[in-house]
Amino acid sequence: MTAEGDWIQREGYLPRLERIASELAAEWGLELGPRIAAGRYSYVAPAGPDAILKIVPAEDTDADHIADALRFWNGDGAARLLRHDAARRALLLERLRPGTESAALAEDDATAIAIDVGRRIWRTPQPGHPFRPIARWVERWLPRDDAHPLVPTARRTYESMAPRTDRVVHCDFHHHNILSRGEEWVVIDPKPHVGEPEFDIPAFLWNPLGTVPTRERTERRIRAFADAGLDGDRIRQWAIVRGICDGLPIRPGRTEADRKQLQVARLLI
Ligand SMILES: Nc1ncnc2c1ncn2[C@@H]1O[C@H](COP(=O)(O)OP(=O)(O)O)[C@@H](O)[C@H]1O
Ligand SMILES: [Mg+2]
Repeated sequence: MTAEGDWIQREGYLPRLERIASELAAEWGLELGPRIAAGRYSYVAPAGPDAILKIVPAEDTDADHIADALRFWNGDGAARLLRHDAARRALLLERLRPGTESAALAEDDATAIAIDVGRRIWRTPQPGHPFRPIARWVERWLPRDDAHPLVPTARRTYESMAPRTDRVVHCDFHHHNILSRGEEWVVIDPKPHVGEPEFDIPAFLWNPLGTVPTRERTERRIRAFADAGLDGDRIRQWAIVRGICDGLPIRPGRTEADRKQLQVARLLI
């Protein structure tokens, strides 16, 4: 999660999503509160005291199967889905209370929470599930070789991997998407695919916002996930592949030093 790519700021975007939100508010009898500014891809607003309305833009195809994943998880490790309108890509979600982000926790506590939440959501999908394999995600986001000197490294790494597809993965698994529900912690905002748990760890290595991914911190986190049964080498490989996918392009006026995804990949190459 970075300040790049704030889709909601794009021309015409917000009015379109707001129109859908007010249509649904009327149909479903919701009282919408002010839009939550942290929603930078989707329109997100409180709907009364107990619910959140989220409208996912059609462009965000990675998020096509959010509702399927929330139903699959059924509240165990994730926010519950209360109502869904597939055509308008609208989700009425359980409002998490107190809803603290795990970014507020101390370093090792946040990692321990992520391990616990991960174990609950990285489940074997049912036969006939709708989720796309993570290979599709990589094919969509891996830039051309001439986009940056690191791309061929990422491509070679990826081509050596043969990713598994036997677990549901979140794809945007980090401190700001793990929130408290009472005494426990659950995810919001998945871009669900099928893959392997290690695919989910790079986004965690880049976060939280406002922190610097040092070598020491990165190694410590990888060790913690490996101690919990994940494959540490596989996490490193995904951090290279995903780091190059998510870290590029570097916008005009910015440098590689602004891109944590590339920094973490460089640490691990
Ligand atoms: N179910 C929920 N309960 C409480 N807060 C939520 C819930 N869903 C989203 N939020 C709040 O809205 C913000 C944006 O939602 P999110 O789904 O992450 O949107 P985006 O897809 O734009 O990243 C979150 O960071 C969180 O603060
Ligand atoms: Mg989010």
